[in-house]
Amino acid sequence: MPARDDDLERLVVDRTRQDAGHVEGEGEDITQFRGGNSFQKFGVIEPYKGDSKAEGRAAVTGKDADRFNFKAPTLRNVEMTYPYFHDGAANTLPEAVDTMARIQLGKKFTPEENAKVVAFLKTLTGDQPNFKLPILPPSADATPRPAPFDKK
Ligand code: HEM
Repeated sequence: MPARDDDLERLVVDRTRQDAGHVEGEGEDITQFRGGNSFQKFGVIEPYKGDSKAEGRAAVTGKDADRFNFKAPTLRNVEMTYPYFHDGAANTLPEAVDTMARIQLGKKFTPEENAKVVAFLKTLTGDQPNFKLPILPPSADATPRPAPFDKK
C-alpha cells in the first residue's frame, strides 16, 4: 500500500466535490453520482473547443440546457482505452487530465500534479471485462444508414 498522498487526495477529491464528475462508488453519499447514470457539462469553467459538431445530450432531449452535457465515462481501465473524450481528441492521459483540469476545474496542474493524477488513474486498471459480443440483427436495404456528425 503506497503512503497516503494528501496532495493527490486533494486533487482528486476536489474534482469529486465540484460535481462528482465520474465517481463510481459505494455508499449512500455518492451512489447518486455513479458515472454510468450521470451526464455532466463538458466545459464547466471554460467551453470545450473541438472539431466535431457533437453537442452532447441536447441532440437527444432537444433541450438547450443539455447542450454539451456528455456521459461521464467510467474511469475504470481508462489507461487502456485511448483515445479520450467523445470526439477522441485527447490521445494520452496527461493530455486528457490537462484538459479536464482546465475546462472542468479552472486549474492548471503542474507537470508533477498531472503525473500524480495520471498515476492515480492507472491504479484503476484491472482485468478487462470478458463477455460475449452481441449478435446484431442482420441489416437490409431498408435499414437506416449511419449518419456521422460531419456528414449532417
Ligand atoms: C482532476 C479532475 C478530473 C480528472 C482527472 C478527469 C479525468 C477524465 C478523463 C481521463 C476523461 C476521459 C475518459 C474517456 O474518454 O474515456 C474524462 C472525461 C469526462 N469528464 Fe472528467 N476528470 C476530472 C474532472 C471532471 C469533472 C469535475 C467533471 C464534471 C463536472 C468531469 C466530467 C467529465 C465528462 C462529462 C467527461 C466526458 C467528456 C466527453 O466524452 O467528451 N470531469 N475525465
